[in-house]
Amino acid sequence: MSIENITWHDASVTRELRANLLSQKSKLLWFTGLSGSGKSTVANALDIRLNEMDKATYLLDGDNIRLGINSDLGFSIQDRNENIRRISEIGKLFVDSGLITIACFISPLKVNREMARKIIADDFIEIFVDCPLEECEKRDPKNLYKKARLGEIKDFTGISSPYEKPENPEIVVNTKEKTVDQCVDQILDYLKVGI
Ligand code: ADX
Repeated sequence: MSIENITWHDASVTRELRANLLSQKSKLLWFTGLSGSGKSTVANALDIRLNEMDKATYLLDGDNIRLGINSDLGFSIQDRNENIRRISEIGKLFVDSGLITIACFISPLKVNREMARKIIADDFIEIFVDCPLEECEKRDPKNLYKKARLGEIKDFTGISSPYEKPENPEIVVNTKEKTVDQCVDQILDYLKVGI
């Protein structure tokens, strides 16, 4: 494959024009954390609050994307990388379209998230959904930790595949210590001036 004979075309309706129409600044809010940490729950509650504030949003969620465009990918390090690369490129288009975009993916490795940050650049906001493995395993909403412990799922994040905690995320929400609403408030407080 080559991009040698491909040329970028600038559209006349620019991102700024779209942003003015929507009266908002688009961002990519990137949630990272273990399976069962509460990424989708907090992201969904945030999405509702933004919608109530008349903000135009879109939620990209790991399980849903893996049922569609990324259904050809598994959970090897290589496939997770490709998963995150595609989501980042899709997220970039959503941000360009003017939407406040919320992405929820385990994105377990620093290199995954660095790639996402590089693709999205200044509009990238990393939100670490911090929850100890023991607590995620206790919650086990999809019964996946149980299966992973029994060896029925291989390469399971936190059990048989690594999760590297973010070192400098813009926001850390702790879902063991705080309620969903408190986590959402914390994120909105950070965003107050920026959207
Ligand atoms: S990522 O690592 O590539 O970012 P992603 O967020 O898309 O992962 O998908 C994670 C979801 O897939 C989990 O919430 C869980 O429901 C499901 N899943 C199935 N197998 C695995 C696995 N081996 N490791 C982690 N999650 C898995």
